Amino acid sequence: MKIINKTILITGGGSGIGYEAAKLLTADGNKVILVGRTESKIQAAAQSLANAVAIQCDINDEDDVNKLFAMISEDYPELSVLINNAGAAFLYEHGENAGAFQKATAEFATNYFSVIRLTEGLIPVLKAQPEAAIVNVTSIAAFAPGAYLPSYADSKAALRSYTLSLRHTLAKDTGIKVFELIPPLVNTEFSKEIGGQQNGMPAIEVAEALIRGFQNEEYEIQVGQTAEFRKYYLSDPEGAFVMMNQG
Ligand SMILES: NC(=O)c1ccc[n+]([C@@H]2O[C@H](COP(=O)([O-])OP(=O)(O)OC[C@H]3O[C@@H](n4cnc5c(N)ncnc54)[C@H](OP(=O)(O)O)[C@@H]3O)[C@@H](O)[C@H]2O)c1
Repeated sequence: MKIINKTILITGGGSGIGYEAAKLLTADGNKVILVGRTESKIQAAAQSLANAVAIQCDINDEDDVNKLFAMISEDYPELSVLINNAGAAFLYEHGENAGAFQKATAEFATNYFSVIRLTEGLIPVLKAQPEAAIVNVTSIAAFAPGAYLPSYADSKAALRSYTLSLRHTLAKDTGIKVFELIPPLVNTEFSKEIGGQQNGMPAIEVAEALIRGFQNEEYEIQVGQTAEFRKYYLSDPEGAFVMMNQG
């Protein structure tokens, strides 16, 4: 699938993986719509790129999302790629005072429920294009949970499962191709607390893998260590869980 001269919406496009993807996609002649909660961050990001606009929107806020739908229909009816990249995570372990219910609720809001609302709302626009794509950014943790981010891993496993069903169903009667981008640990703000700065791969390499994934129509884009870890998980799920939780 060639991603040139397209209009692409990236949630969480003001930093990290989303921003690096925006850089590569605009360099290839695409227009990118950066969506995020922090106006100053997405505005600065959009201004640093050749062909990008910023739309302030909290994907968990229904009013914000309805305004976003209206703006897309009005101003960007040619939208053909949606990248569901915004994410939320809490670093904690289960236990009597963990507050897991509140944390899991917040993580599922951003990583799962908001993704399905945004995606469903944009299907009519995407469907109208000759070629369209949806990318859901999951995680290596969707295969085996790190018990230090337990409900984050649950939410990414749910997103992975949703992605499989969505791909299957949209392939029946639409031209919308559904991709899953599956990064390992990446060096971004998001992963600071879990050693991303020391051990994470550069976000630009994840963005490069996404572009290759589009080109090769590789629907499950297993970035860096993810491919090897997944193979190990399939051959030895218990060993993979232990590996994810060592140290
Ligand atoms: N870094 C890793 O190790 C790693 C590994 C595997 C998967 N991932 C996934 O990769 C994706 C991108 O993360 P990243 O590492 O690039 O981190 P990041 O730089 O922190 O980017 C996350 C972006 O999402 C935006 N965001 C968060 N909540 C939002 C909301 N409710 N509405 C709109 N935007 C929101 C944030 O901006 P605002 O705060 O301004 O809204 C931020 O720009 C996430 O889905 C994450 O789960 C990351």
